[in-house]
Amino acid sequence: MMLVALVAACGGSKSEKETAAPELSTAQLASIGKTLVDNSDCKTCHHPTNRIIGPSHTEVAQKYEFNDENIKMLAARIIQGGSGVWGELPMTPHPDLSQDDAEKMAIYVLSLDGEERKK
Ligand code: HEC
Repeated sequence: MMLVALVAACGGSKSEKETAAPELSTAQLASIGKTLVDNSDCKTCHHPTNRIIGPSHTEVAQKYEFNDENIKMLAARIIQGGSGVWGELPMTPHPDLSQDDAEKMAIYVLSLDGEERKK
């Protein structure tokens, strides 16, 4: 009897890749987030410490507790845009950002006031 190797090309699925992602520390995530912010258009409107068109990202960090709920909330604001929290001017949406990258940006922003991340 022939045991034909049926180990054919069942190339890795996308979902497999996601679960295989290594756990990164908050500091690592914040550092990736900083790079993403630096390479995006954020600095047109945000300065780390001075209010220009948008609030400084340090002010944002001081306003919100550094926890998972606020990371998700701010990531959604970064993707969808927002208005009315800091003033009249709206923040433009960033629909091309993935939820994952937007969360890393939010982690970076929330880390700016030196607060420890909570669960
Ligand atoms: C066109 C100008 C503009 C750009 C570009 C911009 N922002 Fe904003 N951002 C704003 C304004 C204005 C606000 C305040 C909105 C409000 O009052 O709700 C804001 C608010 C925020 C907040 C706080 C949201 C809240 O609800 O408190 C975060 C976080 C933020 N921006 C991150 C980013 C990041 C990260 C980027 C780059 C991907 C970015 N912004 C790009 C103008 C901008």
